[in-house]
Amino acid sequence: MEPTARTAVPGHGDLPLPTPVTIDALLTAQEERFARLDRLLPPAPSPEPGEAVNAALPDGTRVAAVVTHQRTEPGMPSWLWSAADTYELQPVVGHTGAAGMDAVLRAFRHWLDRVNDRGPDTAATVIWPSRDVECARVFLDHGLQPLTVTAVRKPTTVRAPSLTVNIRPALASDEDAVVELAMAEVRYSANVGAALLRAEAERTRRASLAGRLGMTDDVWVAERDGMVIGLAETAIVANTPTARTRRQLPIGLWGYVNCLSVLPGARGAGIGQQLMAVVHNHFAGHRTSGYFLHYNPPNPLSSVFWPRQGYRPLWTQWEVRPAGGMR
Ligand SMILES: CC(C)(COP(=O)(O)OP(=O)(O)OC[C@H]1O[C@@H](n2cnc3c(N)ncnc32)[C@H](O)[C@@H]1OP(=O)(O)O)[C@@H](O)C(=O)NCCC(=O)NCCS
Repeated sequence: MEPTARTAVPGHGDLPLPTPVTIDALLTAQEERFARLDRLLPPAPSPEPGEAVNAALPDGTRVAAVVTHQRTEPGMPSWLWSAADTYELQPVVGHTGAAGMDAVLRAFRHWLDRVNDRGPDTAATVIWPSRDVECARVFLDHGLQPLTVTAVRKPTTVRAPSLTVNIRPALASDEDAVVELAMAEVRYSANVGAALLRAEAERTRRASLAGRLGMTDDVWVAERDGMVIGLAETAIVANTPTARTRRQLPIGLWGYVNCLSVLPGARGAGIGQQLMAVVHNHFAGHRTSGYFLHYNPPNPLSSVFWPRQGYRPLWTQWEVRPAGGMR
């Protein structure tokens, strides 16, 4: 929801909607809180268009939130990591911390009861600064799981480790090997995070990779004895004031890692590390302001690998599937 439309959304709550003045004050306080929590956060974003919910604390303080509904369908890249119907709560709780977050999550729970979507392919979610540990407790108490983090890293070059594999941009002739590596990542991640092994997974991954092979230098492979055994799928992302990423990252040019995958039998031998050394130095050549990616905290490989590579959580996506599982 943009600033001028902050209150121009239909209300849905037990209380009348907070006035525009209250919402503006809450957003300003939230911005101050975010800045105190983590200096890498961009200014707290206004909620997107959706349905407003609101709540009051015992001392009368008013807090609010917007619920958005995103529908994902076969063929969309997000079909492989999102529920078909995602209800996202975007809180506007100012500086009220755990008490305010608990109040809007209760209101969200009532909202979900009213909507009564009992579908199995649904999710309820909140994306919130990872370092707000006071609120982390509240998310856990409401049955939400820290399924995905957006992690960031400084834009420094790295001293390349000695290479045991040949690392090069992927060619059109690598398509089958690249798709197999992308699918190895989907299969692994489906056990330990948000990814879903949908029937359309291979077709979807092939469609998003095939046209880029040999055309760009953002898909890299690691090759040993003529066999492709590692993949890094990356991008240079222009985070402009209208880009969707502006909600999570400071404005600027960012290096992004969408997928890193090493064949199961070749893991733990330094291939991921070598791929990332090449990718990080490639990002640095573009004068990026930082690098970012998403990983799943329950993934026992990536949750160790990425912090060792210099990444740390900025935002956590708290989620429960199906949505009815929220407490
Ligand atoms: C995550 C993943 C890409 C990492 O790739 P990898 O090649 O296994 O990673 P590396 O071997 O470079 O690094 C793992 C560890 O092995 C160590 N290692 C390096 N050389 C080694 C060697 N010769 N023998 C054994 N271990 C070695 C690395 O130093 C590193 O340990 P460290 O962090 O303590 O330094 C890989 O495990 C994978 O494909 N996982 C499944 C899919 C996945 O989770 N992808 C990420 C989604 S976000």
